[in-house]
Amino acid sequence: MEIIRKVDELKNRITEQRAQGRTVGLVPTMGALHAGHISLIDKARADNDIVVVSVFVNPTQFNNPEDLRTYPRTEEADCEKLQVAGVDYAFIPTVEEIYPETDTRVFNLGPVAEVMEGAMRPGHFNGVAQIVSKLFRMVTPDRAYFGEKDFQQIAVIRRMVELENIDIDIIDCPIKREDDGLAMSSRNVRLSPEQRAIAPNIHATLDASLDYATTHSVEETKQYVIDTINSFPFMEVEYYEIVDASTMQPVSDWSGCTQAVGCVTVYCGEVRLIDNIKYPSK
Ligand code: PAF
Repeated sequence: MEIIRKVDELKNRITEQRAQGRTVGLVPTMGALHAGHISLIDKARADNDIVVVSVFVNPTQFNNPEDLRTYPRTEEADCEKLQVAGVDYAFIPTVEEIYPETDTRVFNLGPVAEVMEGAMRPGHFNGVAQIVSKLFRMVTPDRAYFGEKDFQQIAVIRRMVELENIDIDIIDCPIKREDDGLAMSSRNVRLSPEQRAIAPNIHATLDASLDYATTHSVEETKQYVIDTINSFPFMEVEYYEIVDASTMQPVSDWSGCTQAVGCVTVYCGEVRLIDNIKYPSK
């Protein structure tokens, strides 16, 4: 595996690979890698000749400076994991390399970006669009891989790709969970042992809501999830929305869309965790 820190060097490597007719898969990450990331890399390796993983904590997508400051940075351990996972190029640039000047682009991301994370974290999705569009231009991958834990993010990236006319396949990959059901996340390491023990109840509650939903309305199911999660110590739901998987707009009855997805954000102490679940269509 080669570690690349400069954009020009990255472009040269990609040009060399392309000249030999090789396909390129990109897994964008912010580091602090866990088995969820490795599952994206495994998929990318299976689908492409060459795999590039970017490791970059993107400042423009953090609307909370404290969250940016405390975001885990574990480059050495990340590089070891990438090496073992069989990655060809680890692209680990500095902030100055990616943003030699302030990125003032404002993307017209529309309704998919206005609800849930978009409403709670103003500017977050614009920052995601900025970095992902830059990475797509730098790496020019055939395919890029994203985890479904950030379900809304994938919809936003698809919209950005459409707006920018980028020729790429966006591949969404299922959520990877710990044995007790907690969705894998770089933020999990910030949970105290007591919070970590309670956190699996997020997924357990979403899972139980599948059954509850068979005999209750969308509104009742939402309330059930919010009340149940809030009943656990340390946990406070920021939002729970049941949305149409393709538009991200809230649904009011189960027959209102082909695929309904419940998206939750929960504060477990200071740590903001997200998860989601797909409801079978009725
Ligand atoms: O999901 C993430 O880790 C980030 O939002 C991404 C896509 C790497 C962009 O910084």
